Amino acid sequence: MSSRIPHRIEEPASPEGGSRGAGMAVVPNLRDTLMPFADSVPWPVVVVDEAGLVLYVNDAMRAAGKSVPEKGRRELSHLFPEYFAAMRGTPAPWLVQQEFVVTRSVAPSLEIHEHVWVRRLPKGACLIVVDETRLHHLESAHAQTARLASLGFMLASVSHEIGNPLTAMHTMLQVLQSKKNVAREDLERGIRSVASNVRRIVAITRKLNAFARASTESAALFAIDAAIEEAAVLLGYDSLGESVQLIHEPCADAWTFGHVDQLQQVFHNIFLNAAQAMHGSGTISVRSRVLERSVEIAIRDAGPGLPEDAKSRIFDPFFTTKPSGEGTGLGLAISYEIVHEHQGSLVAANHPEGGAVFTIALPRHAGPFA
Ligand SMILES: Nc1ncnc2c1ncn2[C@@H]1O[C@H](COP(=O)(O)OP(=O)(O)OP(=O)(O)O)[C@@H](O)[C@H]1O
Ligand SMILES: [Mg+2]
Repeated sequence: MSSRIPHRIEEPASPEGGSRGAGMAVVPNLRDTLMPFADSVPWPVVVVDEAGLVLYVNDAMRAAGKSVPEKGRRELSHLFPEYFAAMRGTPAPWLVQQEFVVTRSVAPSLEIHEHVWVRRLPKGACLIVVDETRLHHLESAHAQTARLASLGFMLASVSHEIGNPLTAMHTMLQVLQSKKNVAREDLERGIRSVASNVRRIVAITRKLNAFARASTESAALFAIDAAIEEAAVLLGYDSLGESVQLIHEPCADAWTFGHVDQLQQVFHNIFLNAAQAMHGSGTISVRSRVLERSVEIAIRDAGPGLPEDAKSRIFDPFFTTKPSGEGTGLGLAISYEIVHEHQGSLVAANHPEGGAVFTIALPRHAGPFA
């Protein structure tokens, strides 16, 4: 055991080798209990003190090539800059309970993905690092397969939806070509029709591209409140969205794990539908709450509610009740896919007092301040 001593910064032992309270069990000191325990776990562990100095790294971390130098700088930010950069909270992020995923390159074409948990200890904190590279590859492959499968499911409707405007354009061009002297009026009508069909195709391909593209953000712990606020800001840039009122009852405990940009897209789609249903005037109320294992977000508008005959079809790709050129019918279909990819659910109903209510449930994760 003495060969391990150089890797450790010893804390002064109490005279009895532990602290003893009247009539209480012996509580061994940190060195006697924590270090053998940390060395026995198969995951790399880093122990820091309250000032952010690395006191100790366990056997698994040393096997991964990182040890605590006997001399020189021992700040966490210096020895583990990638973990430090990913931490949240000030002024001492290492004392804030949190979890995050760090992706780093260890060779030109080799990236590793580590899930890091930061947990408080009596006189500091520890970082527990789990290499999830394999899991990450499996999940990415699975997510990509699921995306391709749902795109495949949409494909038949896509070719239909894109085929219609293409046929209309083709016919219109044939008509215009077959005429020797096309009247200016007919020509203008023809150009307007082609332009509107092109707009529709562009709108469909844009939405599908945004969905098919892998997320730009890596999966991470994020606050539901922050995603909602971001989507609300985006809504303000829409001509109908800027005039509606959005009331958000925040819930600081609502945290989940995933791709924040995709979930923002879901909130944005639902907010935009609400603004469109209310013709740009009225209130959207957003309420988040935490349940034992999930986070629930209810979004209610003051519009006419979901049409009775359309309720069961609103999540179908290309289902829309909006006039041609105004809706592709993909917003909710894509949102549904994204929420399910995050192991969540998305349901819609009409509120007894009026308006539509969309409820999203996502797995609950402990936030950094838990
Ligand atoms: N808040 C709402 N109130 C009433 N009806 C709604 C509401 N949200 C959605 N719907 C109905 O669900 C349909 C499908 O919505 P979805 O967002 O998928 O497509 P869209 O809004 O028509 O087009 P896109 O979002 O692709 O531009 C809408 O056309 C509308 O009939
Ligand atoms: Mg929509």
